[in-house]
Amino acid sequence: MSRRHRVGGTMTAVQPEKAAGTPSSLGLTFKEAVGRRRSIRYYKPWQPVEREKIQKILEAARLQSCHGNAGHIRKAVVVHREETDEDVFAGLVDALYNQPQASQAPVHIYWTIDMTGWEHLRDNLKGLIDAGALTSSYGWSEQFIDEIVLKTPDFNVMAGERRFAEWLSAIETGMAIGAALLAAQDEGLGTQLLTGKRGQMAELLGIPDTATVAQIQLLGYAAEGTEAGGQRPRPGFDELYFDGRWGNSLHRDPEVVAELIDEGMIQEQAPLPYRRREVRALAAMFGLPD
Ligand SMILES: Cc1cc2nc3c(=O)[nH]c(=O)nc-3n(C[C@H](O)[C@H](O)[C@H](O)COP(=O)(O)O)c2cc1C
Repeated sequence: MSRRHRVGGTMTAVQPEKAAGTPSSLGLTFKEAVGRRRSIRYYKPWQPVEREKIQKILEAARLQSCHGNAGHIRKAVVVHREETDEDVFAGLVDALYNQPQASQAPVHIYWTIDMTGWEHLRDNLKGLIDAGALTSSYGWSEQFIDEIVLKTPDFNVMAGERRFAEWLSAIETGMAIGAALLAAQDEGLGTQLLTGKRGQMAELLGIPDTATVAQIQLLGYAAEGTEAGGQRPRPGFDELYFDGRWGNSLHRDPEVVAELIDEGMIQEQAPLPYRRREVRALAAMFGLPD
């Protein structure tokens, strides 16, 4: 199995000291991280999540690409169950529709879309020029930013239709969350997204009106097997992807599929034969109906 493209690399020259007994990242390949990820719905409430793992997950999210490099849009509040006032945590669980995994997981990340992030667009674009990413050979200059980019609603989204700006902003936060899910997988954690009552969560966490809670990411150690019953069903490749023109299904090469199975990205489909028994045992452990 190829180990060349590691998701959780150790590329930096200076390594921070690890807390004693902290399990290191699994060092998965990118394909393994994608293939092994599942929405985990049963967590060990008794096992805390190491702070350095949370930081690594947030660092992965911060490095995701963003329109105009306006990364200030995607902010998050990290909530540690053990350090949060009991009533506040109960209110958050209630806002998450009392889904049982919300009270099991020791850490929640409340991912938000903060529309004030777009105020940094000009500076962030200028930063890309200074960094040598946007170059004069493609016409980039401060004058171009001021006279063209900031006056074109497709680029300066706040100068155009509000709906488009919100839609694009949701993509920005979504990209950060996607990386955070894979990073959590790479750190050997269980993770899942939850939807909740946005107003209630914002009030409990002091989130301003400019920001909307987009999704809540749970973090913890999985109480269910890491297979979590197998890879979950998805629409067919040919239903999703088109060749040259909408409606012309793109060919799915079975040899590529075989390669991805070999590399751990495509895994056995759910439900694995023992899943029913596993769920029954988990339900008994957590005092839930099966
Ligand atoms: C934006 C978003 C919101 C979700 N909200 C919930 C939720 O509130 N409760 C839940 O049990 N699963 C939730 N999920 C998990 C999905 O149901 C999950 O993607 C589905 O089970 C597919 O399985 P997988 O993530 O294990 O591959 C959410 C997923 C996404 C992407």
